[in-house]
Amino acid sequence: MSMTQDPSLPGGDASAAGEERLLDLTEGPAADTRALRRAFGRFATGVTVVTGRGPAPERRPVGVTANSFASVSLDPPLVLWSLDLRSSTRSAFLEGGWFAVHVLGAGQAELSARFATAGGVDKFAAIPWQEGLGGLPLLPEPLALFECRLHQAVEAGDHVVLIGRVLRARYREEGAEEPLLFIGGGYRRPGEAIRTPQRAAA
Ligand SMILES: Cc1cc2nc3c(=O)[nH]c(=O)nc-3n(C[C@H](O)[C@H](O)[C@H](O)COP(=O)(O)O)c2cc1C
Repeated sequence: MSMTQDPSLPGGDASAAGEERLLDLTEGPAADTRALRRAFGRFATGVTVVTGRGPAPERRPVGVTANSFASVSLDPPLVLWSLDLRSSTRSAFLEGGWFAVHVLGAGQAELSARFATAGGVDKFAAIPWQEGLGGLPLLPEPLALFECRLHQAVEAGDHVVLIGRVLRARYREEGAEEPLLFIGGGYRRPGEAIRTPQRAAA
């Protein structure tokens, strides 16, 4: 198997689709993070919108699109996601103390794009949201929803990992709508199911 450097980096050469690329970070991070982003982007994820409220008295509703969501623990029920330290919502999430994770369906790519917009736009305009635990803004029709109390915040590099204790969860049974997927910087819907011998026999 041959490995090439990323062609977009100095010294890189053009390479065919499917060819393996090597990114050597032993001497420190690359000045150009595009190749690392591409490597991370090979990991397909779902897409969530995480909402919260700023501290009193304004209690400003905030929300960001996040694909860093992961379940952590069943007992106690914990989830995590990571937030860019440069986000305008950082203090709201850290000081507000609550967050709600909305798992998006394949029909909600526009909602994802809206909550991924930077620059102080009103992301909630014309969205009929309701109040949840701790006054959390709850968006309509997620595939799953986790209302969480902030349990722990761990700063890690240029992000802060927010761990939440799930106090209320709801979800729609499989079959109604497919999840929205994100891979290689773009949205997708799931393809065909893959059955392993063990699953087929079960
Ligand atoms: C599919 C997708 C996933 C994203 N995941 C994250 C994430 O996990 N953490 C994060 O901080 N930003 C993530 N972003 C970027 C934020 O959504 C975006 O920077 C943020 O909404 C900007 O708004 P703000 O200026 O109010 O922070 C993601 C964007 C997209 C399109």
